[in-house]
Amino acid sequence: MRFSGRLHDPRTATALGRLLGAAFAVCFLTGLISHYLQQPPSWLAGHLPARPVWGYRITQGLHIACGLAAIVLLLAKLWTVYPRLFIWPPVRSVRHGLERLSVALLVASAVFQVLTGLLNIAEWYPWPFSFVPVHFAVAWVVAGSILLHIAVKAPEIRDHWSRRSPGTLALPAADAPDRRSLLLGVGAAVGAVTLTTVGQSFTPLKDLDLLAPRNPDYGPQGLPVNRTVAAAGISASALRDWRLEVVGPTPYVLTLDQLAALPQNESRLPIACVEGWSVNAHWSGVRIRDLLDRAGAAPDAALRVVSLETRGAYRVMEMGRTYARDPKTLLALRLNGQVLSPSHGYPARIIAPNRPGVLQTKWVTRLEVL
Ligand code: HEM
Repeated sequence: MRFSGRLHDPRTATALGRLLGAAFAVCFLTGLISHYLQQPPSWLAGHLPARPVWGYRITQGLHIACGLAAIVLLLAKLWTVYPRLFIWPPVRSVRHGLERLSVALLVASAVFQVLTGLLNIAEWYPWPFSFVPVHFAVAWVVAGSILLHIAVKAPEIRDHWSRRSPGTLALPAADAPDRRSLLLGVGAAVGAVTLTTVGQSFTPLKDLDLLAPRNPDYGPQGLPVNRTVAAAGISASALRDWRLEVVGPTPYVLTLDQLAALPQNESRLPIACVEGWSVNAHWSGVRIRDLLDRAGAAPDAALRVVSLETRGAYRVMEMGRTYARDPKTLLALRLNGQVLSPSHGYPARIIAPNRPGVLQTKWVTRLEVL
C-alpha cells in the first residue's frame, strides 16, 4: 500500500511525540503522587506533607487535564505513524522485530491507559478488574516502553533537534506549512478539550465546563458528591443511633450534642477528588488533634478512621501524624454554615489539607489511636 500524505513523516511524528511525552510524564509523576498519598509505605506515612493545603488539588487536576490532552495528542500521533503498520516485509531483522514489538507495547499500553482513565472519570467500569491497581501497573509499562522507544528512536530525535535532514529524513521545504497547520490544528483541539473540562478543578473557568463529567457547583450544599448515603448502604436508623467512639489510652464515647458542645474550629479547605474535580469550602467542627489529646494519644500517634459505610474500599482509612496533628484537620459537622447533608457525611466527616477526596472519610463513627 502507498501513502501519499506528506505528514506521515518522522519530523511530524517527533514533534507530536515530544508533546505527548511531556503529557505522559506529567501523568506519571502526578499519578505517583496520588498513589503514595493514598498508599504510603510505612516509613513515609508519618511524613506526608499537609501543606500546601491545595497540593492534591493541583496535582490531580493536572493529572486529568494532561491525561485528556494526551488523548488528542495520542490520536494525532497514531494518525501520523499508522502507515508504518503496513510496511513490507513487516520484520526485516531481529533488531527490527524487537523494535516493532516495543512500539506495539507502547501503543497498546498508552491506548489502554488513556481509555480506561477516561471511562473512570465518567464512572463507567465496563471491565472485570479493579481500576486503580491496573492503572498503576500499566503506568509503569507505559513509562518503561516510552524510555525504550526514546532509546530506539534516538537517531530520529537527534536529527529533529539538530534540524539536519539526512537520509530518510530528507523533506521538501514545502512540507513546513503543512506541518505547522497540523500542529496548529492539534493545538487548537487540545486547547478546546482543556478549556471545556479544566473548569471542574480550576473554578474560575467553571462556566466553560461543558465536557467534564462534574460541575464543581452541582450537588447538595453546592458541592459534588461521588458516593451518596444510599450508595454507601447507610440506613436512617444507623444515622439516628449514631455515636462517636474514640479508642485510645483513655477511650470515650460522645453523642452528637456532646461533640457539638466542644470547641468548634473553622477551616477553608478544598475537596479534591481523585477523578480530578475539586472545590473549596468552609468547614467547621472539632479539631482531630483535640479529640486525640482527650484520648491520651502520644503527639506522634497516627489515626485509624472508621466509617458507618457497610461496604467499599474506603470504609476504613489511616491518617499519619502530620495530618492528625494539623490544626486545619477537622471532624467536620458543618459545611458552608449548614449541618452536613446526609450525602456529605452527616453527622461527622473528616476534612484534612492536601488529601485525596477518597480519604476525607464520611459518616465517621470511630477514631482509633494507633
Ligand atoms: C499515560 C497516561 C497516564 C499515566 C501514566 C497515569 C498514571 C496514573 C497513576 C500512577 C495513578 C495512581 C494510581 C494509584 O493510586 O495506584 C493514576 C491515577 C488516576 N488516573 Fe491516571 N494515568 C494516565 C492517564 C490517565 C488519564 C487519561 C485519565 C483520565 C482522563 C486518568 C485518570 C486517573 C484517575 C481518575 C486516577 C485516580 C484513581 C484513584 O485513585 O481512584 N489517568 N494515574
